[in-house]
Amino acid sequence: MLFTRAGLEQSTSEALARHRAKRFAGLGRVADLCTGIGGDLLALAATGQPLVAVDRDPGHLRIAVHNAHVYAPTAAIDARCEDVRAADLTGVRAVFVDPARRSGARRFSPGASEPPLDWCLALAERVPAVAVKAAPGLPTELVPPGWEIEFVADGRDLKEAALYSPALTSGASRRATVLLASGAAPAATLAGEPDPPDPGARTVSDPGAFLYDPSPAVTRAGLVGTLGRQLEAWQIDPMIAFLTSDQPVDTPFARLLRIETSLPFDVRRLAALLRTMGISALDLRRRGLAGDVDTLRRRLLPDRRELVPGGPAVTVVMTRHHDQPWAFVCTSR
Ligand SMILES: C[S@@+](CC[C@H](N)C(=O)[O-])C[C@H]1O[C@@H](n2cnc3c(N)ncnc32)[C@H](O)[C@@H]1O
Repeated sequence: MLFTRAGLEQSTSEALARHRAKRFAGLGRVADLCTGIGGDLLALAATGQPLVAVDRDPGHLRIAVHNAHVYAPTAAIDARCEDVRAADLTGVRAVFVDPARRSGARRFSPGASEPPLDWCLALAERVPAVAVKAAPGLPTELVPPGWEIEFVADGRDLKEAALYSPALTSGASRRATVLLASGAAPAATLAGEPDPPDPGARTVSDPGAFLYDPSPAVTRAGLVGTLGRQLEAWQIDPMIAFLTSDQPVDTPFARLLRIETSLPFDVRRLAALLRTMGISALDLRRRGLAGDVDTLRRRLLPDRRELVPGGPAVTVVMTRHHDQPWAFVCTSR
């Protein structure tokens, strides 16, 4: 394969591109606008459909076609070096567009892209099916009615958002997807409607025996309530994304912890408790509480020599419960 530094830095990862390309399978001629070095093109090529690739950077375009042929040597790719605004989309059944969010080393301001989001969304007036890649911080108010926004995480890293026009959705307006490093399926995906804006409408109660720390894809998609229903879990606080339950359920959408102790947040009490537990490792997680994690770590564990080989690896979760700072001392299940 061939790369440029800027092209590779902006390209879609292989696992994510494969996940996305499945939506386009069987649609007919697909245009990949703003092809870059072909991170998406190579996965679209593997679906066997005829492709149109458009980028105004001749180097990127040649690299993209080369890279796609590494994956699909016989792929039919009509490569056009031009401004995507001038592209003739006659006969194109679906478009994927990944607008540039930087030019060389210069990043555009948040929300800005070339071409702009409005132009990308308006493609749906010309082509039956449209998908637009966007930054994961994209405000969800910008999603047109009937479209879906999907947030994708690779492990615990939130990678991107993508908007899909009605022809490419299954009816839900939000989707959270987690790419999986191992296992039979390459990705797990959760679809639904966003949590109600009224915090009073959320399922909230006292902590159970287990705590779930949802994937950033789930929290960004506003699907914490949907995940809670799937896991028969509830929130500890209406404004904070932790879920809790009495029965543990393994899920790709959250990190599962066993609650060993639940107590009002008090650094001295916590430090004393950790000493008596003889812990081998300390991880700190925080949602809904201010404070510097590194300072807190030093106060909870002043000397690494206090770690006890063979002892439990502990996660201290700092959050809010009953409207006051709260801590959970947890182990992995
Ligand atoms: C984010 S990159 C695309 C990355 C690609 N999806 C990948 O995975 O490799 C954006 C690309 O858009 C191209 N581009 C930006 N504005 C354009 C325009 N108006 N017309 C054509 N290409 C454009 C840039 O040259 C760049 O290669």
